[in-house]
Amino acid sequence: MNNTRSPLIFNVLAECTTTKARTAQMILPHGKVDTPVFMPVGTQGTMKGLLSEQMENLGLQIILANTYHLGTKPGVEILEKAGGLHQFMNWNRALLTDSGGFQMVSLLKLAEITEEGVKFQTLNDHKSEIVLTPEHSIEIQNAIGADIIMQLDDVVKTTSPDEARITEAMYRTTRWLDRCLKAHKKPDEQNIFPIVQGTLNAELRTKSAKAHMERDVRGFAIGGLSGGESKDDFWKMVHLSTDILPKNKPRYLMGVGFAVDLVVCCALGVDMFDCVFPTRTARFGCALVMTGQLNLKQKKYKKDFSPIDEDCDCSTCKTYTRAYLHHIVTIHSTACHLLSTHNLAFQVRLMKNIQDSITNGNFPEFVIKFMSDLYPNKN
Ligand code: GUN
Ligand code: ZN
Repeated sequence: MNNTRSPLIFNVLAECTTTKARTAQMILPHGKVDTPVFMPVGTQGTMKGLLSEQMENLGLQIILANTYHLGTKPGVEILEKAGGLHQFMNWNRALLTDSGGFQMVSLLKLAEITEEGVKFQTLNDHKSEIVLTPEHSIEIQNAIGADIIMQLDDVVKTTSPDEARITEAMYRTTRWLDRCLKAHKKPDEQNIFPIVQGTLNAELRTKSAKAHMERDVRGFAIGGLSGGESKDDFWKMVHLSTDILPKNKPRYLMGVGFAVDLVVCCALGVDMFDCVFPTRTARFGCALVMTGQLNLKQKKYKKDFSPIDEDCDCSTCKTYTRAYLHHIVTIHSTACHLLSTHNLAFQVRLMKNIQDSITNGNFPEFVIKFMSDLYPNKN
């Protein structure tokens, strides 16, 4: 009897009849994930300001970590000794790791990309050079043990005018995908997702998606967007990608987390998102609400004894006032904990409302109400 079951099952439960939105249950080795889902980013194996058990209490079903950072510190040996990142950080639900190259290029600016991999100087010691190859990225991701792991990709900014470089990166991403698939040691436990590239070029993006669909993979990511292009261009590329990608597999749009983009891209048929935005903006003293953001550093909150959001049932909103948050935001990191808690609760609630509206057949009405709350003066 064959009792190994697929490490990713994707059951679409309801589809919107007006848009491309759908809601599904994704079953991964470390648990179920209801989609569309937003995944917060705990880059180094910790969500700044939150314990793993607090993330569980918020109802998060999947979080993201980064390969490059974890491969450097604590490194593969410690991760393997710890029995993987789940055990190491006491996170028992699903986990996704990004492959590392994108972070290197966007953070360091010292990175150089060759056919071999992404070459860069280490953060601690500027004299030594490291090459993150597709094989090495997968080796680290195998040691981390996430449910979904990402291929190493060659990312070019959407604002780049260099057509030759854009074309090279698109084809190279597919070559690196094949190297990643070959290097993958745990295909029965971890799912590799390819990443569609091609910047804003419809023909290249179509080629990229079609090439990746020829491989035996269980889900697809759309990469290289949300990097300074216009919303119009961004949405066109998402629309084009989701039109090509198969309906029976999850689609993950990388690096997107503003509420308005989540709602629009759900309508375009995206199932998964990640972004540092909700937790990063929390650290700057900003709280997410349906009308936008509150910057709690502003003086107008000094005597405001209401919660951030009357309708939010997170522990921050049930316990603390805007006035208190205004008071502590410049003096103590507790504010980071309280605001991250609220902002992640906000993302979870938004995605749950999207899921429910798709299930109940009223997603278009949800979108209209969402837009009129966010842009009250525009008809
Ligand atoms: N995060 C946001 N965009 C991207 C992308 O295009 N590739 C990878 N690997 N990570 C991302
Ligand atoms: Zn709240």
